[in-house]
Amino acid sequence: MKLNIAVLPGDGIGPEVIEQAVKVLKAIAMEFNHIFTFETGLVGASAIEKTGDPLPEETITICEKADAVLFGAIGETKYDIDPNAEIRPEQGLLGIRKVLDLYTNIRPVIAYDDLLNKSSLKIKQIKDTNILIYRELTSGIYFGQKELSEDGNTASDICEYTRFEIERIAHRAFKAAQSRKRKLTLVDKANVLASSRLWRKVVQELAPTYPDVKVDYLYIDNAAMELIINPRQFDVILTENMFGDILSEEASVIVGSIGLLASASIGDKYAMFEPIHGAYTKAANKGIANPIASILSAAMLLDHFELHEEADLIREGVDKSLKLHITTPDLNTKYNHVTTTKVGDFIEDFINNPEETNLN
Ligand code: IPM
Repeated sequence: MKLNIAVLPGDGIGPEVIEQAVKVLKAIAMEFNHIFTFETGLVGASAIEKTGDPLPEETITICEKADAVLFGAIGETKYDIDPNAEIRPEQGLLGIRKVLDLYTNIRPVIAYDDLLNKSSLKIKQIKDTNILIYRELTSGIYFGQKELSEDGNTASDICEYTRFEIERIAHRAFKAAQSRKRKLTLVDKANVLASSRLWRKVVQELAPTYPDVKVDYLYIDNAAMELIINPRQFDVILTENMFGDILSEEASVIVGSIGLLASASIGDKYAMFEPIHGAYTKAANKGIANPIASILSAAMLLDHFELHEEADLIREGVDKSLKLHITTPDLNTKYNHVTTTKVGDFIEDFINNPEETNLN
């Protein structure tokens, strides 16, 4: 298969983790006789520095021409210190999600047996957790009208959803549940928010179309607690933009490190794959960033094009690296940890030679 992949490494640890993902994709292309080409674009703080724009037109064109986008991370300490900065790296990420209409963000949360002791939660609580979070990604409070009064004393962010926006992601979440344990949990705040009441109404109306899927409804506050107390009860979680952002980051505690969580953002025409972690500027260029989330995002990219055998091989390589403790320091305090590049090298070697790759 020929795939033209747009690569947006972004800021902080983005470039080094994406380098590993690209390395792994190149190994897959070699092994399976695919032709993958890569074109890099600027985004985030690094794009602001070079062009003044967090999402230059040229980057949009590169993404629109590509079959898929691989995204690193965005953010920079100086913008975090000044939340009033008018031009911000985040506009690059939010902008590309909106322009490509990537409305479904899928975030798998899987507890690896080999990492159960890395979580601060109890092993018996988290073992066998396997959740798919379906986060709406192009609407809600993130994209609603924002206002700051002239005197600077009042601010507002509108959270708006349309039936259309809810229906299109809900159908996908129901279908995903059908191919799994057939359970869908809608997370909302329907006891308080009008937008949540619309989510609930729409999902209740769609439910009879998927009679084999059991639907549950949880308020976000309760869901935040249940996710920690009993994560195994969840199969597919469907939720709006901001709740999904918060819940998925919380879910990383189950897995042991946010450096493991991958995601796919799928529209009707375009698809983008990105780790859920941020730019973690403090860790940049130290060789300590965990590339697994990016590498697993690359596996999700392959799944998107039905290259399941290829994606599975990447996941096997990841499993093996974890089993052998070939991991970055976030996961490895007991054994000698390795660098970002070494984790990528190990998975690359595994793809080239699955039978023989071992610690060396
Ligand atoms: C994420 C991030 C982004 C979000 C930020 C960087 C804008 O937290 O992808 O989860 O809030 O969506």
